[in-house]
Amino acid sequence: MANAKAWEILNAGGTALDAAEQGVMVTEADPEVHTVGIGSYPDRDGIVTLDACIMAPNGDCGSVAAVQDILHPVSVARMVMERTPHVMIVGQGAKNFALSQGMKETELLTDWGREQLAAWKTRNPDYRPKINVENHDTIGLLTLDKNGDLAGACTTSGASFKYHGRVGDSPLIGSGLYVDNEIGGATATGWGEAVIRACGCFLVVEFMRQGHSPTDACRLAVERVISKNPDWKDNQCGFIAMNRHRETG
Ligand code: GLY
Repeated sequence: MANAKAWEILNAGGTALDAAEQGVMVTEADPEVHTVGIGSYPDRDGIVTLDACIMAPNGDCGSVAAVQDILHPVSVARMVMERTPHVMIVGQGAKNFALSQGMKETELLTDWGREQLAAWKTRNPDYRPKINVENHDTIGLLTLDKNGDLAGACTTSGASFKYHGRVGDSPLIGSGLYVDNEIGGATATGWGEAVIRACGCFLVVEFMRQGHSPTDACRLAVERVISKNPDWKDNQCGFIAMNRHRETG
């Protein structure tokens, strides 16, 4: 669905940046996707907090983390990029900024999310999030437009039942997303702590800069994540990449 929306924009001659933003907005608005946007798993305090970032062909970028009650964090990230001198705004400040730009408050926690939290509390007396079991996931989208310009966006509710205020890789430029218009872009999903330790997406792009194909760059980055995370067998992460020659990995 996100790809279809992005293609619609690109085929109509739209920009890579618009395609990246509007593509992931489809997923943010889908309450049946439980790891992005509305209808997501809450944190352990019963609050849905969202993280997102976006990166433009000119290297500009914007990001929000731990934002509550806002349906489209990726659009707030874009506003941070385009309307402020900053890259990243978090928490209540991000919500205040979104409201100041005309966004409306939206209840992101659904009855489904409340039920999941109640069930999780009974089966996790040690209060430890478990990767894979609880459907932890993220959407990242890389786009290349008719002008040959690259952009990307990444958005997530982060780890299910996380500590309130926990931020993963997704809103961190270089970890959950990186785009260099001269080389290519990469975005990540999975256990954010593992991706952050390797600065994953910057690494993928740097491997492409060294001449590796997108697939090899992703594989080398996964190997780096493994080497930096002794608990890797309990973890999961993955990368996608695209270079400016339209090769993907
Ligand atoms: N990859 C999303 C997160 O860990 O928050």
